[in-house]
Amino acid sequence: MKWKRKDLLGLEELSAQEIEFILDTAESFKEVSLRPIKKVPALRGKTIVNLFFEPSTRTRTSFELAAKRLSADMVNISASTSSVVKGETLKDTAKNIEAMKVDVIIMRHSLPGAPYFLAKIIGPSLINAGDGAHEHPTQGLLDLFTMRENKGRIKGLKVVIIGDIAHSRVARSNIWGLLKLGAEVAVAGPATLIPPQIERMGVKVYYRVEEAVRKADVINVLRIQLERQKTGLFPSLREYRQIFGVNRERLKDARPDLLIMHPGPINRGVEIDPDVADGPHSVILDQVTNGLAVRMAVLYLLAGGKSEAID
Ligand code: CP
Repeated sequence: MKWKRKDLLGLEELSAQEIEFILDTAESFKEVSLRPIKKVPALRGKTIVNLFFEPSTRTRTSFELAAKRLSADMVNISASTSSVVKGETLKDTAKNIEAMKVDVIIMRHSLPGAPYFLAKIIGPSLINAGDGAHEHPTQGLLDLFTMRENKGRIKGLKVVIIGDIAHSRVARSNIWGLLKLGAEVAVAGPATLIPPQIERMGVKVYYRVEEAVRKADVINVLRIQLERQKTGLFPSLREYRQIFGVNRERLKDARPDLLIMHPGPINRGVEIDPDVADGPHSVILDQVTNGLAVRMAVLYLLAGGKSEAID
């Protein structure tokens, strides 16, 4: 298969074949980070810009490391230190970055749809690093990669996404990707944090975590996104933890080979207890490691990397 898309905006619009192609490409990049010299010249001469209008640790850092390990030139722009604070529009900011002849822009923005708007009006490839509560495609891809690596397949896997589904771009990218690859997907959490009619996407809904996890192969636990919520969706974080927090007691009837995931950042002791997050079933830090390989693959495919430069 040849990669044909200019942009990576969401998993909703990708085919199963395209998703598998990215995951397969990421397999070959995982090994690069284990070499004594963690660098290949696949994107030498390409310029990549991280344009982040929201905070990030994992996504921003792993895109930067991915670009550097592929030998691209990388620049970071934060909204707080850019001319956005002087009133420049998103379109003008992007057009000015384009005028400096960059090849790829990676953007995180609080407005759902912002990367779709920009991708239509600029020449460089655009990667959505999270647009509000809409999509976070590279997080979805790294989650798929981690499930496939640990379980050997995605098709037929029972995956439960637990927590604040309504405000989560990770939930949406996971749901699209998992369903396209043939997994059985369920969501669990308080009714106020589950979007109405989410069943129409093809997922089951549980309102009790204990029931949801009983047959699950994988659980993906999400953070309560206080920064995107109106107040009053649940009484308090303490009560959320008591009723929906993932802890050892709540997992006592789960499968012995349950895989526990979380995209980060974790609110320890709220949506997940520390002994579960750090326990033997957790692959949370493996997700971060895999994120680097997945982002190398995405940059390589979008920027037209040289395959002979990987060996
Ligand atoms: N999972 C994730 O997107 O983390 P950051 O917000 O740190 O990038």
